[in-house]
Amino acid sequence: MITLAPPAARPDGYGAIAATTHCRGLFVAGTDTGVGKTRVACALLRALSAAGLRAVGMKPVAAGIATGMAVNADVAALARAGNVDAPLADRNPFAFDAAVAPHLAAAASGARIGVGEIGRAYGRLCAGADAVVVEGAGGVLCPIDERQDMLDVVKTLDLPVLLVVGMRLGCLNHALLSAMALQARAVELRGWVANCLPPAMPLADANILALTGRLGSPPIATSMITLTSSGGFLPIAMASMFMTAPVSLRADKHAAVRHQSNIRAFAGYASGQFAVALFSSDNG
Ligand SMILES: Nc1ncnc2c1ncn2[C@@H]1O[C@H](COP(=O)(O)OP(=O)(O)OP(=O)(O)O)[C@@H](O)[C@H]1O
Ligand SMILES: [Mg+2]
Repeated sequence: MITLAPPAARPDGYGAIAATTHCRGLFVAGTDTGVGKTRVACALLRALSAAGLRAVGMKPVAAGIATGMAVNADVAALARAGNVDAPLADRNPFAFDAAVAPHLAAAASGARIGVGEIGRAYGRLCAGADAVVVEGAGGVLCPIDERQDMLDVVKTLDLPVLLVVGMRLGCLNHALLSAMALQARAVELRGWVANCLPPAMPLADANILALTGRLGSPPIATSMITLTSSGGFLPIAMASMFMTAPVSLRADKHAAVRHQSNIRAFAGYASGQFAVALFSSDNG
């Protein structure tokens, strides 16, 4: 079993950059590219917005802008899901046309991805929001230049990570390697999402259980493609994404949320701390 280090003591629950504001941030990382980071980030943003908070999405590095489009599709989806009108340069400081690895896209365009610039943009977003949901690019060790990778962005922003696990063959290895990388770099794994991508993975439940045992906690949400063809997220536990410590949702409360099928995002305060449950059938 991989024993993940306990979260670093951070009484205020905020990253260093946001320490002077009340804004809270979360970094949505994935086991790979195309595993559902944008879906999950958008679901979180909708939940936060529905709770009346000022929520903004950030994609520090985006590689791939479709022909005829002004912005990267993820950046546009995050903007639609949030409710803060922030400058594009802050929501997406580094954008490249080619859908290739960010460090290669940057090199090809003569640019250099600077974590300092990303940190300043994040700070500005924090100044005008209650919550910033930051989506990574690729997996956690995706390079951003010849030396640094996505976790250097996470370290600069000093954010906890929500890991989106794309439930498909190979995901156990990818998820555990990602968790080890976070641990090695002293980044807090705040929680994980089991995203059941189509086509449905055989023995998905058993795989989720295997990860629960090895990561040390159940997923904060799972998408149920067997129940909702659009891949909606059903809450299986109260997420503690913007809190300093996880709380578990009582089974009866959980069931109550589950049965309100008209609820697309559930968010509230539990024990005086903000909590979010994903409950979205939208595709960001
Ligand atoms: N639970 C799901 N059910 C059905 N489709 C899904 C689900 N999760 C993700 N998808 C689809 O899979 C594709 C990849 O999802 P998404 O764009 O969220 O991944 P990503 O990790 O953000 O990718 P990238 O690395 O490009 O940012 C999208 O077409 C999305 O609609
Ligand atoms: Mg994405």
